Amino acid sequence: MTQQARAWLTGARSVCVLTGAGISAESGVPTFRGAGGLWREYRAEDLATPAAFRRDPKLVWEWYDWRRGLVRAARPNAGHEALAEFERRRPEGFTLVTQNVDGLHERAGSLRVHRLHGSLWIVRCTGCGNESWDERVPLPGLPPRCDACGGMLRPGVVWFGEVLPEDALDAAVAAASVCEVMVVAGTSAVVYPAAALVPLAKRAGARVIEVNVEETPASGLADVSLRGASGTVLPLILL
Ligand SMILES: NC(=O)c1ccc[n+]([C@@H]2O[C@H](COP(=O)([O-])OP(=O)(O)OC[C@H]3O[C@@H](n4cnc5c(N)ncnc54)[C@H](O)[C@@H]3O)[C@@H](O)[C@H]2O)c1
Ligand SMILES: [Zn+2]
Repeated sequence: MTQQARAWLTGARSVCVLTGAGISAESGVPTFRGAGGLWREYRAEDLATPAAFRRDPKLVWEWYDWRRGLVRAARPNAGHEALAEFERRRPEGFTLVTQNVDGLHERAGSLRVHRLHGSLWIVRCTGCGNESWDERVPLPGLPPRCDACGGMLRPGVVWFGEVLPEDALDAAVAAASVCEVMVVAGTSAVVYPAAALVPLAKRAGARVIEVNVEETPASGLADVSLRGASGTVLPLILL
């Protein structure tokens, strides 16, 4: 199965890779679903929403501040590195799309990353809309305030129910529509519209390779499902 996946990837003129939280699990960054994905007594789905932020911005910021600290201490793993190396070897006909907000693809050396869900390091003013990059951990005072207008800042991530950044989504849809091979790695494939990229690629005739420790809703669409950790499997099929 690994050999088959490798052969498809080597022969493909165009490859699209969709990653999710699972690819960062071996770096020690907890996933939302599955073991080890909990924070205090809350579920991620109850915190990553506009309603949760309106209700208790300090609580939501405490959670993001905690996640920023975890990610800061983490390092990219062999899965992130294999994707960065794959892009170096064949910069044309390769598109990396991620649902992750941790920046580990970029830190591993991936140059073009289409971030569907924003970034933990972007903060945006709920008053004047100003956006900035802020890597301070911990943030001084929660919730943080805008230097320009004093308004409350929010994390620059896409919450459940919010619209995805148009440029990233357009690039992802374009790549999924033309790729010959799609690799779906470390995602539970239940968060839309990201999950819709898989059936889109499939309908357009792509071979779908899934890399995940568990079965997911995308497994049924996959031509090959590789059950294993992305840090082990991705180097085997990409390099
Ligand atoms: N690191 C991050 O940036 C991060 C972390 C948690 C959640 N999120 C956000 O959570 C949302 C949830 O969707 P999702 O599908 O990305 O994550 P998810 O938490 O829903 O699913 C994680 C998936 O990864 C799999 N997995 C766990 N360890 C793995 C490993 N070592 N190798 C391969 N697969 C592994 C699990 O079986 C599961 O299917 C996204 O919107 C994303 O923005 C991001
Ligand atoms: Zn402001």
